[in-house]
Amino acid sequence: MKIAVIGGAGYIGSHVARELLDFGHEVFVYDNLSSGLRQNLFSEAGFVHGDILDVQKLDDFFTSVKPEGIVHLAALKAAGESMLLPEKYSIHNITGSLNILNAVSKHGVKYIVFSSSAAVYGSPKYLPMDEKHPTEPENYYGYTKLAIEQYLEWYGRLRGIKYAALRYFNAAGYDVKGRISGLEQNPANLIPIVMEVAAGMRSFVSVFGNDYETEDGTGVRDYIHVSDLARGHRMAFDKLQSGDSFVVNLGVNSGNSVLEVVKATERISGKKIDYRITGRRAGDAAVVLADPALAKEFLGWQAQCSDLDTLLETTWRVYKSAQ
Ligand code: WQD
Repeated sequence: MKIAVIGGAGYIGSHVARELLDFGHEVFVYDNLSSGLRQNLFSEAGFVHGDILDVQKLDDFFTSVKPEGIVHLAALKAAGESMLLPEKYSIHNITGSLNILNAVSKHGVKYIVFSSSAAVYGSPKYLPMDEKHPTEPENYYGYTKLAIEQYLEWYGRLRGIKYAALRYFNAAGYDVKGRISGLEQNPANLIPIVMEVAAGMRSFVSVFGNDYETEDGTGVRDYIHVSDLARGHRMAFDKLQSGDSFVVNLGVNSGNSVLEVVKATERISGKKIDYRITGRRAGDAAVVLADPALAKEFLGWQAQCSDLDTLLETTWRVYKSAQ
């Protein structure tokens, strides 16, 4: 299939583009390189440097590429920042997505695979969280993802576009074959921060609270390998071609605490990782876990490389060579 990957130079987008290329799809990346990197592009894929807020450029891109499907991953994703700068998130995430949807509708694109988030659920009311869990986002970033899911639903209904909204849990890791090596810029997530400490790029990790009701008191998350996520996107296109739109979790239902991540990274890198226990971060839950049953039953998807060691080894390989 001819697929446009919007946000395809980013951390997750580049893994998705790689997976689609590996399976014989024709890939065209559209990215403004605000957090994406040229280093993450592949010679086999087309590339247009453009912004989703530039309606004319987006229209030109769709006119020249004529994609049958798109993956939409172009978004701002810092949950904390979204609470301080909601206007910025409204413009980039919501207006930008509507620009994409309007272009998709105008150009007769059939399929959209959308990068949604576990942030649409808000604090867990039960664990693991399945897709029927109430959607009550607790940060504005999560709200933008939920709003976009709703626009997708309407455009699906009114324009016959088929979509898959993939609700990612905590994405981590790097291509197992080592083909992607762009470091995330100014990371706010735990694993890249721990890796920066191991690589000597920062001096310590702040551990946001050790008084949660978890085994070691630190927050537990469902880390999923980015290559497993990428495979989910490819499988979503297969499914959309033969069925209806759907919303599905991509997670593992296996959790690791902050200190487990720190200790395992010390073991894998052989470096000492200094950490300081600080106060809890506003809006953080003690434990977040996905119920991936629907992904397995409906999509036939299962995580293959999301064990903590593979996640951290593939990431350390990239950070080590960036030292
Ligand atoms: C993980 C754990 C922190 C940084 C976010 C988004 C969510 C999502 C994935 C995308 C928590 C702790 C973190 C640090 C720490 N996906 N931590 N020190 O908050 O679970 O999820 O990314 O859409 O929507 O909110 O991920 O990596 O920030 O935190 O102690 O410097 O690490 O408290 O327990 P989070 P995270």
